[in-house]
Amino acid sequence: MDADVGQQQEPKVDLRSVFARDQLDLAFKSIGKEAGFFIPHLRPGMDLLDCGCGPGSITIGLAELLSPGSVVGIDVSELQIERARTLALEKSVENVDFYDATAYSLPFEDDTFDAAFVHTVLQHLREPQLAIREIHRVLKPGGVIGVRDSDWSGHIRGPSNQVLDAAWELYTRFHAQRGRHPYAGRNLRAFLREGGFVNVHGTASSEYSGDTDSVQATAQVMALLFRSSDFVKPVLEMEWIDLAGINEIVQAWKEWGENPDAFYAFTNCEAVGWKQ
Ligand SMILES: C[S@@+](CC[C@H](N)C(=O)[O-])C[C@H]1O[C@@H](n2cnc3c(N)ncnc32)[C@H](O)[C@@H]1O
Repeated sequence: MDADVGQQQEPKVDLRSVFARDQLDLAFKSIGKEAGFFIPHLRPGMDLLDCGCGPGSITIGLAELLSPGSVVGIDVSELQIERARTLALEKSVENVDFYDATAYSLPFEDDTFDAAFVHTVLQHLREPQLAIREIHRVLKPGGVIGVRDSDWSGHIRGPSNQVLDAAWELYTRFHAQRGRHPYAGRNLRAFLREGGFVNVHGTASSEYSGDTDSVQATAQVMALLFRSSDFVKPVLEMEWIDLAGINEIVQAWKEWGENPDAFYAFTNCEAVGWKQ
């Protein structure tokens, strides 16, 4: 049965039945869109580190691009590393390796890589500058870094909906309360400069959902986000919202996904810098 929070009548339920999935599926990502800002700075033969690689779809795309160079993806999630290794096997990409490691303490010698890529990771870190400094350590002099993160103030959605407005505010507050950085996007240039990089420049690109398929996909992802255990369990425990409120949000996303006028867009901020 699709675990629908709306089917829970009262709060004292086994929360395991409430959560549909704990991990959103990020495996659809690819380099064209996500790494487009960074590709002009890459060339075949470079060795690259993808820090916080997730399920590896971008990492593998970068490995194909940089062959005969080699690409390494690291992530703190063993599950993601397993998925990434499986994907590389399925795609028969051999110049890529994946390791379970934290960005704060990379298992590599100083001056190892020509390039580093960090995609939608810094917003999740308590101390993004420390991770950037560690990446700076493992880059060779002259090495280049590309980082990309959305800025949560740059999400727009139509038509107006007070439940979804309040939900986004709640989600942003929750993220910040966990010591993370919903507004990382606007600070990427600062993160790189503080981490030791020079000639740092920033760009931005938009993503949008403006037709039936993309709107429904966004609605689905958002509904999953608002029913994921990582969010639901703590906000219920902190009594920021009750189960009925969670259900109302999930239902509002579903209804938004069916609305023929629905539109969603958000801004990704990007920055590139070099190690001297
Ligand atoms: C939103 S996902 C992005 C994954 C991938 N970069 C992509 O864009 O498809 C964020 C990833 O950062 C990883 N992560 C979080 N904290 C980390 C840390 N301290 N070191 C390395 N990876 C981390 C998470 O496990 C997750 O896979």
